[in-house]
Amino acid sequence: MSTFSFSLDATDGSARTGVIDTPRGQIRTPAFMPVGTAATVKAMMPESVAATGADILLGNTYHLMLRPTAERIAALGGLHKFMNWHKPILTDSGGFQVMSLAGLRKLTEEGVKFASHIDGSRHMLTPERSMEIQKLLGSDIVMCFDECPALPAEEKVVASSMRMSMRWAQRSRDAFGDRPGHALFGIQQGGVTQSLREESAEALKSIGFDGYAVGGLAVGEGQEAMFGVLDYAPDMLPTDKPRYLMGVGKPDDIVGAVARGIDMMDCVLPSRSGRTGQVFTRNGVVNIKNARHADDPRPLDESCTCPACSNYSRAYLHHVFRSQEMISGMLLTWHNLHYYQELMQGMRDAIAGGTFTAWQADFHAQRAKGDI
Ligand code: GUN
Ligand code: ZN
Repeated sequence: MSTFSFSLDATDGSARTGVIDTPRGQIRTPAFMPVGTAATVKAMMPESVAATGADILLGNTYHLMLRPTAERIAALGGLHKFMNWHKPILTDSGGFQVMSLAGLRKLTEEGVKFASHIDGSRHMLTPERSMEIQKLLGSDIVMCFDECPALPAEEKVVASSMRMSMRWAQRSRDAFGDRPGHALFGIQQGGVTQSLREESAEALKSIGFDGYAVGGLAVGEGQEAMFGVLDYAPDMLPTDKPRYLMGVGKPDDIVGAVARGIDMMDCVLPSRSGRTGQVFTRNGVVNIKNARHADDPRPLDESCTCPACSNYSRAYLHHVFRSQEMISGMLLTWHNLHYYQELMQGMRDAIAGGTFTAWQADFHAQRAKGDI
């Protein structure tokens, strides 16, 4: 059946595990989505990304509309074919990236005018244009067009921004129309103010979406404030629809978010860190450029089954990083994505088995041990 659906298999405290069914395959939740901004997860072949265990990738409206353009991708058969990734793709809607990446921007009720960070050319994004672009790309999960201020921000600024995003959510819903097999997710805003988060959730629920994102976090508020919001925000959203925390995060952010009822996340951290020599392991972060690895014959992580850990020493990984060899970014990105996917699988199993509290304690204990 070519429809989009979410089924919850088990809960443990606030944590949930389930499956999102799409015509392009299943997404096991809690799910981590690697970021494939420019129609590539940097340094990875798509089949390698799949081998790490990823069920879904994130793509970006903002980057793809500028280069190579959504119209070109559509003419070439859509984003899945273009980048040779045939599992689900979620696309972000562009507004958030315009605010962080574009030059000169002008935000109005209509949308946002901006200058490309690539060549300075002028563009406009509106809810309607964002829906059109995401349709041209062939995205499976389309995000509403929204905007949010960096935190800290004055409450009245956060409130009026959130209210405009809710009007844009209605326009996004209207422009998206009825597309069986494709999903449209709303995005909750409201900063770190509970009453604004509530107002936003109510607005989204009355419009009605296939899933609900918690947006406007990881924008400078810190983990404690983010967890503070996540202590109440997921509960404001429907239990029978996926909940997606946008742009998060470090491994401990992800574990804390899942513990609070989040089902999906995305972040550039594992892939970007792979290119800057930061390696995530169960015992914490390893910096491969550190001279102490130069003579170390051990793998990055003895218990990891990824290609970087199965076939190479820390000494080799240190050498190719220092030499700026391309294989460095390839191997470290693979390891990091593998680590993130194992983390998600560990949480899915623990939630299904009713042992998530013990799993969390073990996760934190192993990191505290250090010795890396
Ligand atoms: N990525 C991280 N945070 C956000 C957000 O609030 N909105 C959108 N559209 N993308 C994001
Ligand atoms: Zn590894």
